[in-house]
Amino acid sequence: MQNIRPRRSVLYSPGSNARALEKAKTLPADALILDLEDAVAPDAKKKARERVRDVLRDGGYGGREMVVRINPLASDWGRADLGLMASTSADAILVSKVQSAANIAAVRDTLAFVEAPDRLAIWAMIETPLGILNVHEIAAAAAGNRYPLTVFVMGTNDIAKETRARQRGDRAAMLAWLSQCVLAARAYGLDVLDGVYNNFKDAEGFARECEQGRDLGMDGKTLIHPGQIERANETFSPDGDEVEWARTIIEAFKLPENQGKGVITLDGKMVELLHRDMALRTVAIADAIAEAATS
Ligand code: COA
Ligand code: MG
Repeated sequence: MQNIRPRRSVLYSPGSNARALEKAKTLPADALILDLEDAVAPDAKKKARERVRDVLRDGGYGGREMVVRINPLASDWGRADLGLMASTSADAILVSKVQSAANIAAVRDTLAFVEAPDRLAIWAMIETPLGILNVHEIAAAAAGNRYPLTVFVMGTNDIAKETRARQRGDRAAMLAWLSQCVLAARAYGLDVLDGVYNNFKDAEGFARECEQGRDLGMDGKTLIHPGQIERANETFSPDGDEVEWARTIIEAFKLPENQGKGVITLDGKMVELLHRDMALRTVAIADAIAEAATS
């Protein structure tokens, strides 16, 4: 199983906030999104871009996956943001308001133009009605070794703004849209991250929303505050029993008497090869989490 990376907790830190960027070095988030877009006021854009360039150059973020959220290409700042990627240690850029496969192609062209390293991945925010309607064609643009599209990030605040859907605790209006994006991500091998929970002092509501996102199939949650990291890590990690059961399934299919079988009985339950495949993923993600914790 290739390229499994834990993305349980993915924290936005405003590129304009030096204190937050420093603090982020000490936080147990799987990934950091250094934001140049919504969290940065127009007057602070240039300064934020320079600061993000400097902190990436100076490092100190350990094994955390580093992502830079850029302004839309069509805005006053987008191209300069991408220019920053010419020589960067960042793992990915996060492109806001992706609405079509053509948007991804345009970002790739610009990355090639500024000679960004080929391994730089693209994460796409799905946060507009057109983005959701076109999510299948966007996911289909994933393939390729140069600037691969690897992750969808749900922009639930923008979705609420654009659709006028109410952001209720149960997210009733959002569920179909979120699920649509999970489907498209799975069809093309992308990861998909849930949107942020604004009320960062409401631990209970946050915990419920983490569980809901996990149950929808999300790989992790985007976060706005350090206080949200621990719960996201817990919720999006397979628990001990799950991992143990997964290992039991994998071992059972290795037994001589089970060779060539598609279905077996284990602890009184039907277990098929598809469950073995799911078990392999559970163990791989658990191992990746354990490995990241020691790196
Ligand atoms: N990343 C890194 N560190 C953060 C952080 C973040 N997103 N949010 C808060 N912190 C730090 C603070 O700097 C502070 O550190 P310190 O005590 O060591 O100085 C500590 O965590 C506690 O912060 P707190 O006082 O509770 O919050 P705040 O009032 O400083 O900030 C927000 C609240 C919402 C403004 C801030 O969390 C934030 O900017 N979040 C990200 C917003 C964002 O990026 N939005 C765009 C995507 S939706
Ligand atoms: Mg947005």
